[in-house]
Amino acid sequence: MPQLQSDIDDDAGAVNDSRTAEFAEAVLNGLAHERRSIPSRFLYDEIGSALFEDITKLDEYYPTRTEIGLLRAHGTEISECVGPVETLVEFGSGSSRKTRLLIEALNGLATYVPIDVSEAFLAEAAERLEADFESLTVSPVLGDFTKTRELNGIQPHRPLGFFSGSTIGNLNHQEAHAFLENAAQLLGEGSTFLIGVDLEKSLDVLIPAYDDAGGVTAAFSLNLLARVNRDLSGDFDTDRFAHRALYNARERRIEIYLESLADQIVHVLGQRFDFAEGERIHTENSHKYTVERFQDLAARAGWTPAQVWTDEAALFSLHLLLLP
Ligand code: SAH
Ligand code: AVI
Repeated sequence: MPQLQSDIDDDAGAVNDSRTAEFAEAVLNGLAHERRSIPSRFLYDEIGSALFEDITKLDEYYPTRTEIGLLRAHGTEISECVGPVETLVEFGSGSSRKTRLLIEALNGLATYVPIDVSEAFLAEAAERLEADFESLTVSPVLGDFTKTRELNGIQPHRPLGFFSGSTIGNLNHQEAHAFLENAAQLLGEGSTFLIGVDLEKSLDVLIPAYDDAGGVTAAFSLNLLARVNRDLSGDFDTDRFAHRALYNARERRIEIYLESLADQIVHVLGQRFDFAEGERIHTENSHKYTVERFQDLAARAGWTPAQVWTDEAALFSLHLLLLP
């Protein structure tokens, strides 16, 4: 069974304590600001990760099936472009469903290093992959991929990085730039990086993807408040908040908020927060790019854009970047 190592702390009890402390600090700070917000990485506790998997199967949510289609159609070509790879490092690996396609295409992979904040998903995915790919060693890193500075002591030679799902879109441009610079340091010279990036498109397609008719995305968002109740002795009434998905055309991004449906008072860890009806907590951004704008961002962070694959409807793009 793969050992789950954490870049946060070594001792299991202390890990949980330090993670809860980090969540507490983010929530108390985020709710104290005039423009309230909670960072999106906290959406992925065990329940949130399971709800995200449900989102990926929705008709309205085109990114997952489109990116899987690109990996299936171009896996061999991707493998030829990157050449022989011993180590694959994945950022925000989640269920590692797409990774399977990549591992199959890259025959000969020896080590897989998934990085994720979702402990339950990371351990389960690592275990299943090791069972299914006999010669593969899985070395998971539990932690924030924007802050990962080392990979369980592994110093891979010309590894391939993988960042799927357009999770890079959940970072703003400054954060994405810093992430790409850090990834360059982490992966090192001669590495390659495959990144899935969602493309700008009509709002008829975009809005339902983030506000589906069955309310799965709403349940995913509202679970953040339920997590505050579970982990931080909160008393949010989740029936009195609503999921809102809006498109900010200037920033070219979906913005997700939880909106108070009444004047109400909420407590978190004994602190009181007053909400007016209509007041919002900002919980997520999902930036959309053109191929050229993403390539510019990558180039400014030191990567050389190489191949790009897109689907026929130009919904989604897969970028291969090089670090000479
Ligand atoms: N790559 C998968 C999962 C995408 S969901 C796919 O394409 O389907 C986003 C994943 O990134 C989740 O598993 C979540 O736990 C993880 N994640 C989000 N923010 C993170 C962060 N700052 N550090 C590490 N993992 C993060
Ligand atoms: C993980 N990430 C890329 C998803 C997205 O599309 O921005 C998260 C998500 N939030 C609501 N639906 C999906």
